[in-house]
Amino acid sequence: SQTLTLLGLESSCDDTAAAVVRAGPDGAVILSSIVEGQTSLHAPFGGVVPEIAARAHAERIDHCVEAALAESGLRLRDLDGIAVTAGPGLIGGVLSGVMCAKGLAAATGLPLIGVNHLAGHALTPRLTDGLAFPYLMLLVSGGHCQFLIVDGPDEFRRIGGTIDDAPGEAFDKTARLLGLPQPGGPSVERLATEGNAKRYPLPRPLLDRPGCDMSFSGLKTALLRARDAVVAEHGGLPSQDRADLAAGFQHAVTDILIEKTRRALALYLAEAPTQPAFAVAGGVAANTAIRAGLESLCAETDTVFVAPPLRLCTDNAAMIAYAGIERMRMGLIDDLTLSARPRWPL
Ligand code: KG4
Ligand code: ZN
Repeated sequence: SQTLTLLGLESSCDDTAAAVVRAGPDGAVILSSIVEGQTSLHAPFGGVVPEIAARAHAERIDHCVEAALAESGLRLRDLDGIAVTAGPGLIGGVLSGVMCAKGLAAATGLPLIGVNHLAGHALTPRLTDGLAFPYLMLLVSGGHCQFLIVDGPDEFRRIGGTIDDAPGEAFDKTARLLGLPQPGGPSVERLATEGNAKRYPLPRPLLDRPGCDMSFSGLKTALLRARDAVVAEHGGLPSQDRADLAAGFQHAVTDILIEKTRRALALYLAEAPTQPAFAVAGGVAANTAIRAGLESLCAETDTVFVAPPLRLCTDNAAMIAYAGIERMRMGLIDDLTLSARPRWPL
């Protein structure tokens, strides 16, 4: 495989990002990776506001590109192509990235490669660990929750996923219900260590059903009811009850994810891959209890366990540049008619 150096752009949610990645026969190197988050812009509104996100992406994307090039020590003429997230995501943000990438491609004559954001996440274990196809992947974040068998750079089989909320979203809502700071995952995890998970037994929706689909919204409702019952009894939320609720919630999410991963692994291993490997990506993979459970499942089945570093699991442009390289190697190149696709299933 020839050595290719691509600039990648990402602007589909609330991070504006640009990166330069080079990949060749000896693997891939991230030459630069710039991520400008928008958390503080959206914080007063309690969620990502599409109009604010779109404006911030439009204002920052050029600067991110300049910074990524400067950090890599390369100029546009040293690149082999421009990769950009073309969806799925918030249309205003995706458009900023696509327009910027088209401008750069038109000005330089470099190939333009539109990348599916989820493919970027799903190919990250190849960027970081050089995993061979096919591998099993669990994407688990604030917006995603799905099992994918990754057969090739453009071949993904979704074998299950959430039918409602993503677990990260449920962690964030739980934090809000318990009066903990955002992002909810780390605060719930911290408090859970002081709690008794058995005190408030919470449901594990869909666990009794076959297959790899998951549901987290009923869990959230059950938690709300349990909290309200405590508040009604005590006129407030005593700190031990708060910790017990956090622990009960985390335990339920962990049980669901581990049991469904066990089934997904069984499906994947039944195809007898030559080098079985499982990768987890997304913010929720930072959770120690969840990660430990997944890791021991893999150990039981002699499956290689990969968890890329968190900065490459959360939204970034290095994964987009890398996915662009894989597409370019396959001759999957776009032209200036590339359009932004707010909905784009893998
Ligand atoms: O991948 P990510 O940064 O963004 C997207 O959702 O795309 O994931 C963020 C999510 C948030 O919902 C956050 O609460 C959750 O990941 N998270 C965690 C932990 N750290 C972050 N959830 C559980 N335990 C954690 N330690
Ligand atoms: Zn993402």
